[in-house]
Amino acid sequence: MKPLATLLLLAFALPAQVPEARIKIDTDRRIGEVHPHLFGNFAEHLGRCIYGGIYEEGSPLADENGYRKDVMDAVRGLGVTILRWPGGNFASGYRWKDGVGPKDQRPVRPDHAWGDLEPNRFGTDEFLQYCERLGVEPYICINAGLGTIDEAREWVEYTNESRRTYWAEQRRKNGRDKPYNVKYWGLGNEIDGPWQLGHKNAEDYAKFALEAAKAMRRVDESIKLIASGSSNFGPGADWIAWNRTVLERLRGEIDYISLHTYIGNRENNVESFLAASADIDQRIEITEGLIRAALAGRRAARPIAIAFDEWNVWYRTMGRSEFETGATRLEEIYNFEDALAMGMFFNSFFRHAHIVKMANLAQLVNVIAPIFTNKEGLFLQPIYFPIAEYGKQKGNVALDALVESPRYKAGPRGELNYLDVSSTWDPKRRELFVNVLNRSATRDILTRIENVEGRLAPAAEIWQMYHDDLKATHTFGDDRRLRPRTWQETLKLERNGFSYRFPKHSLTILKLTVEP
Ligand code: AHR
Repeated sequence: MKPLATLLLLAFALPAQVPEARIKIDTDRRIGEVHPHLFGNFAEHLGRCIYGGIYEEGSPLADENGYRKDVMDAVRGLGVTILRWPGGNFASGYRWKDGVGPKDQRPVRPDHAWGDLEPNRFGTDEFLQYCERLGVEPYICINAGLGTIDEAREWVEYTNESRRTYWAEQRRKNGRDKPYNVKYWGLGNEIDGPWQLGHKNAEDYAKFALEAAKAMRRVDESIKLIASGSSNFGPGADWIAWNRTVLERLRGEIDYISLHTYIGNRENNVESFLAASADIDQRIEITEGLIRAALAGRRAARPIAIAFDEWNVWYRTMGRSEFETGATRLEEIYNFEDALAMGMFFNSFFRHAHIVKMANLAQLVNVIAPIFTNKEGLFLQPIYFPIAEYGKQKGNVALDALVESPRYKAGPRGELNYLDVSSTWDPKRRELFVNVLNRSATRDILTRIENVEGRLAPAAEIWQMYHDDLKATHTFGDDRRLRPRTWQETLKLERNGFSYRFPKHSLTILKLTVEP
């Protein structure tokens, strides 16, 4: 028989494949705005994030201020909206006054958070001017570890005061007349962690933070404050109790409570690695419940949102030595499966867009980061691409998609859908985004996607990251093999829906249009 005839015979003889998953989208089922600050980032004085990353005085790649121009371009491409600084653990021992004024008179101090030396050549003015250059909102974390309330108050005075006060005058002497008007201030970092300099119990932290908030707001009442939520999920730690106390004591003063989560694939099993969404969802939902409880019955209460202000994959370079010696500098080389994890985090943030109003990838350059430099240049790690792509959905409305999918057993996390999904809607452009992570290590999943309100247009844009090798990485001179593919597709529409096959271990963003 001729090959064509065989094909035709097969096509009629075999039953059409039935989708095994279903995603149903209704643009009326709105969760909340995908806040632009979900695409925040974090730059800590740690390893080569600041020195040798953002900032490299004397480098041919730097401008006259010492900012690496190649890094700035990559940061722009990443779509960073808000930048947290100066730590992290570093913040809890940082004296901001060491980092202002003539550079050659600034002291070199030991950094006891990471066992390094801090030259103080990059300080408040350098950070804030960097943010201005990039059009990024600055977010400063105060020293609530070894620092004082008065230092925090004076820091706000230095950055935001317009009158001729002592610290505003110091700012002017240092070349900056106009206040920077820094709006976002963190009331310390991970103060619940025993590893933190100046670690406190929840009651002591709350007393400190309450008074710091009061003093800082006396300088500028328009600032937004982020309380240090718990990041200690280890055995014996009661993260829920910490968050409850902090929320009850600080309600009325704070605008956010922070959450931090790092994940890793220590078992070398991609399906359980990507099951971490269950923990992320749970931490957000429990904290949301605690926020509701803390605000219940209070009329016109100051709303509190969640700032997920540290998140990423971090495990290969995690260990005691980092805290004590700074030895490995947290220079994770990310692979393809880590890129998939970026989609998992964003899907969770989008599904909780009504309460998660800020998220900061930790960190920006070299240190657990999407951008990796040496003295000659940089390369983009595989995690860079999903971050940049999800960022295009900022300002959209997150939708509550219905998902039916084959499931798998994820150990203590119970059963999970193979398909981890979020969806957003841009009502002005009538664009519908469906973000799908297929966590299966082996199965492509044919899925029916249905739309409820308005007719889908047949033209679709597809963005996809897929690679056979989960462990594939990038390096200097070779950072193209894990880049996403994008293409246009004409959908075969049927009853306002279509079928789409999501490849095993892949991340896909479908951009659809709903006709007016
Ligand atoms: O991002 C690295 C470190 O992780 C931060 O300094 C700290 O806040 C967290 O433990």
